[in-house]
Amino acid sequence: MNASHPQTIDVALGTRSYPVWIGRGLLGDAARWRAALRGRHALIVSNTTVAPLYLDKVAQGLDGVRWSSFLIDDGEAHKTFANVGRALEALAALGATRDACVIALGGGVVGDLAGFSAACWMRGIDFIQMPTTLLAMVDSSVGGKTGVNLPAGKNLVGAFHQPRAVVADIDTLDTLPAREYRTGLAEVVKGAAIGDPAFFAWLEAHAGALAAREDAALVEAIARKVRYKAGVVARDETEQGERALLNLGHTFGHALETAGHYTTLLHGEGVAVGMVLAAQLSERLGMSAAADTQRLLRLLDALGLPTAVPAGYDPQQLLELMRLDKKNTAGTLRLILWRGIGQAEIVGGVDEAQVLAVLRAATGG
Ligand code: NAD
Ligand code: GLY
Repeated sequence: MNASHPQTIDVALGTRSYPVWIGRGLLGDAARWRAALRGRHALIVSNTTVAPLYLDKVAQGLDGVRWSSFLIDDGEAHKTFANVGRALEALAALGATRDACVIALGGGVVGDLAGFSAACWMRGIDFIQMPTTLLAMVDSSVGGKTGVNLPAGKNLVGAFHQPRAVVADIDTLDTLPAREYRTGLAEVVKGAAIGDPAFFAWLEAHAGALAAREDAALVEAIARKVRYKAGVVARDETEQGERALLNLGHTFGHALETAGHYTTLLHGEGVAVGMVLAAQLSERLGMSAAADTQRLLRLLDALGLPTAVPAGYDPQQLLELMRLDKKNTAGTLRLILWRGIGQAEIVGGVDEAQVLAVLRAATGG
């Protein structure tokens, strides 16, 4: 596998369909991604960590295009409205017309903010995702959810705005810290756990190769997860139903992230522990077998991901945080649970006493 033979997955959305290319050397393969650039203006949005590593490579492909860059500081705290305003000012300074293109070069923070800026400029212009974290390659760059945070909460403002192409150059993962890499693996496991039992079995067989970042296994894992997500997005682009399943483990995970003030667990780590708690709750509700929970635990463990709630969490506080989740309706808990590996489902009116029992057992409280 190399730049001339990347894996290609199509996200099938009629006239808005787009390719996801996965392989090595893709940022430098401008002949390929320039086809997604329709006009003569481009704004590269990146951050102060990623830009020094990869911006030149992208810029080299922009011969004949009037381009500039807009960099945000590193971190979730900078996924803000204020930075969207600055990105729009940068587009204005560039003289960007309706056929301009925003290029998002970075992880999910950059991708969400750049995509939302593209959705806002002149009511929506093109953008290309160039994800540089594993999480962004397998999740946030695909499917068109864009947005920013408010002080009141994460991702409260946004738009569905699909990219014109996704360029997942796995060369960029060579500089990604190990903990961030594992976070992306949690999102890979999540896709398989939700709806693809054969992929789950494949991950069990290739966990060692993935933990060691072996190319062939890595590209295959990214491609399978993207193919799964592309299917869900094609069937339910704006999350009227099935797409909500992609949030397996999130309600538990967000509560853990919030209770830990976003410093104890990274998002993907919260999702990993959250999936285990969702599996334990499913088992307690008689929906799934203990053997499925055990397989999930073993796989996450083999990939170096946490499976237990860290010490010091209060089960009652976690339950209260879960009550704030956007998925809830009319004061009752609505969770993504499963009937076993590859069979997630949305369950409304979940009994809080059962949730609390699972949280108590997990926290020893
Ligand atoms: P991130 O963008 O903060 O990147 C993680 C860290 O890795 C950052 O410090 C970043 O600077 C650094 N980094 C990025 N690429 C690098 C590279 N190649 N080499 C070295 N360092 C690199 O975090 P993330 O995990 O990529 O994304 C999380 C964000 O994605 C959150 O804001 C979340 O809300 C969002 N998200 C969106 C969707 C969606 O569908 N739109 C889905 C999942 C998550
Ligand atoms: N990350 C969830 C979604 O894209 O719907």
